Amino acid sequence: MAIREILIYPDYRLKIKSESVTNFDKELEVLVKDMAETMYDAPGIGLAAIQIDVPKRVVIMDLSETKDALQVFINPEITELEGVTETEEGCLSVPGVVAMVERVAKVRIKAQDIKGQRFEVEADEMLSVCIQHEIDHLNGKLFVDYLSRLKQDRVRKNFIKEARLSETEAA
Ligand code: NI
Repeated sequence: MAIREILIYPDYRLKIKSESVTNFDKELEVLVKDMAETMYDAPGIGLAAIQIDVPKRVVIMDLSETKDALQVFINPEITELEGVTETEEGCLSVPGVVAMVERVAKVRIKAQDIKGQRFEVEADEMLSVCIQHEIDHLNGKLFVDYLSRLKQDRVRKNFIKEARLSETEAA
């Protein structure tokens, strides 16, 4: 197991569309374990594989306060949608930025577990918002993409400036 590096916005790899998982093997198990370790270490409540530079349709989440309820969604898909909700979101790949994002309130999710077993869950509130945020990652989309052009430009410029500063510090 290992903590992996999280890609930071505006890294172009975060725009890659992830591929479906077809092999439910040891490699997938290791990936999920590394993702969990990385997410808990950050700490965060959700992580998509692409955030650690693996373009596979794998999402993990833990919405519990005790951080002992890991949920794994392989090849997740949303099949039913209902209502609208607006929540403040953040993302491990866009550290320090939070913004209100409009999402569907209730969803039905079809996914596979780590063994390839198919399951369905209905989600509302936090779980619903989170799974939509993570599925967006699998499609190369970030929550900041929902912001106005002006706000997006401001966020992007800040991150580029920060990256430059830390390069100077390292040099
Ligand atoms: Ni995110």
